[in-house]
Amino acid sequence: MSPTVRLRGDRVVLEPLRVQHAAEMVDVLSDAALYRYTGGSPPSAAELEARYVRQVAGSGDPSEEWHSWVVRVGDDGPATGYIQATVAPEQATAELAWVVGTAWQGRGLAREAAAVVLAHLVASGVRRVVAHVHPHHVASQRVASSLGLEPTSVLVDGEVEWVLTPGADRLRERTGGTGSVPAHTPAVEQLPGQRRER
Ligand SMILES: CC(C)(COP(=O)(O)OP(=O)(O)OC[C@H]1O[C@@H](n2cnc3c(N)ncnc32)[C@H](O)[C@@H]1OP(=O)(O)O)[C@@H](O)C(=O)NCCC(=O)NCCS
Repeated sequence: MSPTVRLRGDRVVLEPLRVQHAAEMVDVLSDAALYRYTGGSPPSAAELEARYVRQVAGSGDPSEEWHSWVVRVGDDGPATGYIQATVAPEQATAELAWVVGTAWQGRGLAREAAAVVLAHLVASGVRRVVAHVHPHHVASQRVASSLGLEPTSVLVDGEVEWVLTPGADRLRERTGGTGSVPAHTPAVEQLPGQRRER
């Protein structure tokens, strides 16, 4: 599995998830409103630590890499949320998910952090990116749209599958990259019900 590397945007620093982040993140994830569209509820410190132990250990499946980053404002600023990428390297596909704590929402942090991760994934060879967004979750739709993802007619557990299968021009435009990218990327269909929770 490729390591999860530290990433940086204009304002945000994305730290590879560590189990020790649980103590800080339990406050970030403590508002019940965060789970309105995704289900779930605020975790206790012990639950979050156990979750992070599992996530840091990885999927156990060599064909699926789990990468998680805590989104910090600046090097020494507070943790504000996280980004997850589930990567299937052989298919060159990735699924993205984003969460920003209620106190930090509406400042463009999800957009910026997700864009940094997207650029990193594309530079690492990913050619198809998906996200699953509740049909009424406008903020998450805006994040997906800002990344260039587009909604599809595929529903997975009641959420709309958004997809980015960019050609060479759009990829370069979005990532600023100049590397060689295939002009056409074959889509790999994900069937409803195949999505796995970590
Ligand atoms: C979705 C979420 C990550 C957005 O985080 P954020 O940091 O507030 O998002 P940003 O500030 O980057 O804003 C992104 C866009 O959403 C819009 N937005 C933010 N909050 C909004 C709200 N309550 N209603 C409508 N639009 C909203 C912003 O205006 C922006 O749109 P724009 O690009 O057109 O200007 C955050 O709401 C969240 O964590 N929600 C709970 C967890 C969740 O459901 N995650 C999605 C799972 S994939």
